[in-house]
Amino acid sequence: MSVSKLPPPERVGSFSEKWPPKPTWKAPDDVPDLTGQIFLVTGGNVGIGRETCRVLVARNAKVYLATRSEERARIAIDDICKSTGKSNIHFLKIDLADLASVRKAAEEYMSLEQELHVLINNAGVLYSPGIGPQTAQGYDVQFGVHVLGAEPFSSFTFAAFAYEIEFLGHYFLTLLLMPTLLRTAKGEVSGKPTLVRVVSVSSDAHEMTAPKEGIVWDSLKKGDAALPARKKLTGTRLYGQSKLGMVLISSELARRYGDQGVVAISLHPGGVKSELLRHLHPIIAWIVEKIRIYPVSLGVITSLYAATSEAALEMNGEYLTAWARRQVPSKHAQNPELREMLWKWCEEQVSGF
Ligand SMILES: NC(=O)c1ccc[n+]([C@@H]2O[C@H](COP(=O)([O-])OP(=O)(O)OC[C@H]3O[C@@H](n4cnc5c(N)ncnc54)[C@H](OP(=O)(O)O)[C@@H]3O)[C@@H](O)[C@H]2O)c1
Repeated sequence: MSVSKLPPPERVGSFSEKWPPKPTWKAPDDVPDLTGQIFLVTGGNVGIGRETCRVLVARNAKVYLATRSEERARIAIDDICKSTGKSNIHFLKIDLADLASVRKAAEEYMSLEQELHVLINNAGVLYSPGIGPQTAQGYDVQFGVHVLGAEPFSSFTFAAFAYEIEFLGHYFLTLLLMPTLLRTAKGEVSGKPTLVRVVSVSSDAHEMTAPKEGIVWDSLKKGDAALPARKKLTGTRLYGQSKLGMVLISSELARRYGDQGVVAISLHPGGVKSELLRHLHPIIAWIVEKIRIYPVSLGVITSLYAATSEAALEMNGEYLTAWARRQVPSKHAQNPELREMLWKWCEEQVSGF
């Protein structure tokens, strides 16, 4: 299967994205039995990721909860085991802001499992705190320090390095796990060819707050070289850019691997209550909370639909919005040249890791 052969989706307006009608596909009710399937969910310890893991485990999947803090992961795993009465959930250590850690996590996964049916690239960060080094590769250490202790809105205004996690870390993880995904798709281990999925949790911010140029390449340079561009963009635009990156990488995955049995879908999960606002200034967080009114039980619907529904298997290369509706992504997200340029940029960043 290559990219989606469905008729093009109709445009869902931004009002409807923010305040969606009642879902027609529901979780956990409409999630099928997942016995025999292995899922890897990044950022599964809280928020949308944790609830996604809970439903998958309840539906008999084997789940790897991949996150950076073992302590926080164990709390989530205990909670999920208690609430579902099932225990097929396992911790995988990964820091997506450290490419060496991403490789280690992928290698550990591959030492444990020969198959992977669904990878859910869920982890994300909204305005990382302006404290110290942001990444193990030393992106912008000084800038982080500058922001610390500056004006009250500093972390809201300037400090966002989400791109590291959202499209570079996830890009690398997906690529490292691709041989396992393809082996699963071919049925080399099970004897049964099947479609496998890569689900990328992006955001409507990929359109609403991305830079008007799409990707501002100067802001992706390492260290001080990127500061002027980053300051000009502000954290809001950098977050939008990182989410645009996820949509672009997802559609490039669809194009490159769609005919080998990989279904790649990106999505906006809806505005839901989670820990995502933890780095925002409290006043800004309070305002945003007034808009993000939905419980996380609704916020998992779109991810679970993309990751488990039969219908989504037809949607390779598509972008979904809340709750589990096909959506037309932004113009930049549909730009094939930008897609390829970003893919190449990612390739260059991960070389040597
Ligand atoms: N909630 C919304 O309204 C909304 C709207 C649009 C899009 N989204 C997207 O939905 C996804 C899930 O967000 P959420 O709302 O559930 O937020 P959340 O509660 O803050 O969860 C984010 C998860 O990402 C993990 N994470 C962050 N940095 C990481 C790193 N370097 N390495 C590994 N894991 C890392 C966090 O782990 P720690 O606990 O260790 O930090 C946490 O598990 C994100 O991609 C977010 O951008 C959410």
